[in-house]
Amino acid sequence: MALSAIPSCDRLWINARLATLEPAGGLCGARLEHAIGVRDGKIAAIVPMATHSPLRAPTEGWSGEGQGVRVGSTETASDRPEIIDLAGAWITPGFVDCHTHLVYGGNRVREIEMRRRGVAYAEIARQGGGILSTVRATRALSESQLVDAALPRLHALMAEGVTTVEIKSGYGLTLEDELKMLRAARQLGSRLAVNVTTTLLAAHAVPPEYAGRADDYVTLICDEIIPAAAAEHLADAVDVFCENIAFSPAQCRRVFEAAQQHGLPVKGHMEQLSSLGGSQLAAQFKALSVDHLEHLDADGVRAIAASGTVAVLLPGATYFLRETRKPPIELLRSAGVPMAVATDLNPGTCPLASIRLMMNMASTLFGLSFEEALIGVTRAAAQAVGLADRVGTLSIGKQADFLVWDIGDPAELVCEFGVHRPRQRVFRGDIT
Ligand code: NIG
Ligand code: FE
Repeated sequence: MALSAIPSCDRLWINARLATLEPAGGLCGARLEHAIGVRDGKIAAIVPMATHSPLRAPTEGWSGEGQGVRVGSTETASDRPEIIDLAGAWITPGFVDCHTHLVYGGNRVREIEMRRRGVAYAEIARQGGGILSTVRATRALSESQLVDAALPRLHALMAEGVTTVEIKSGYGLTLEDELKMLRAARQLGSRLAVNVTTTLLAAHAVPPEYAGRADDYVTLICDEIIPAAAAEHLADAVDVFCENIAFSPAQCRRVFEAAQQHGLPVKGHMEQLSSLGGSQLAAQFKALSVDHLEHLDADGVRAIAASGTVAVLLPGATYFLRETRKPPIELLRSAGVPMAVATDLNPGTCPLASIRLMMNMASTLFGLSFEEALIGVTRAAAQAVGLADRVGTLSIGKQADFLVWDIGDPAELVCEFGVHRPRQRVFRGDIT
């Protein structure tokens, strides 16, 4: 491969196999025997190696070899990009964990033990435990204490290859405490090599001060919390928990209307424990995503298919709650709804900081193909957080967030758990 054929780059990985995760091409948009170059933190070149390259042994099933040169600019070659020879290693996009609650205080291990003895999650919530016990622990911490508490969880995700993470509020439930959580999330993003997108989830539970007055709390959310979060640019989206133990569809509609007035996209915890039609409501607001979905029905699937809303699957919560009901995967698949996969990392329903485990569970518990699971933590997850134009695939012009793997087949990343660690984690073009 002549360097002159490549646009100017700061760094170039050669002899790579790329799982671009673009829709075109073979499985996972694979490009064998390619080079990928980065400049100024972005992907600047994706170029086939010369046909006489010694790497001529495509893995069975991974087609896409020689599907054409993709060059992002016509500038002349840079003098000396740093060259990294991967000798056939695979590159995937960095993983996007599009649904987490990883900023919180305390833990719920005692309560979870009660659940293991047979007390239901909803029953514990009704008794003032559940989300509200984490609210007490979260209110007690300062912003910097919340950052410290979240760091090990975020480091665990990053070590597995997460380069973009969505972080929700929802354990503060006052104006000050919700903003404190969002500020902690923003701080994590500015301190660590990871893109953080923030979501205001004030409509997560009715706080004790508003017990029996849920509508008044919704008024506080709409009139004070959303406007303040929007004014300080602390939230990239607004979420709700639409459920019998949380907020009704009518209350969620009010929250969505307020979000819309402030130019914020919406999403929702929908049809997790029962079917209230939250997904149809979300679809009316062109929600970025609806998440959980164990009780989603055919009408809900049709609605989100029409609105271009992503279905976010959270198999870790299904597993941890020992739910036997699964989201309607076949209906979603045949309706062409993009399916993302995320951790839901939180102290109550999924204290499991592993996107890799979720990929495996999405396949083992929900029946996603290995390719669907990989799409679920890359391209579809990027769409679920509204960042499809910046991350989620190896594409010219996107942020250079990717992972180098010593594997023979990307399916191993889904099928095998605990075996593979990224050889390199690249964030905005830098090896981190
Ligand atoms: O996504 N469903 C609602 N919210 C979280 C659970 C939060 C908690 O129990 O602390 C979820 O599963
Ligand atoms: Fe959640």
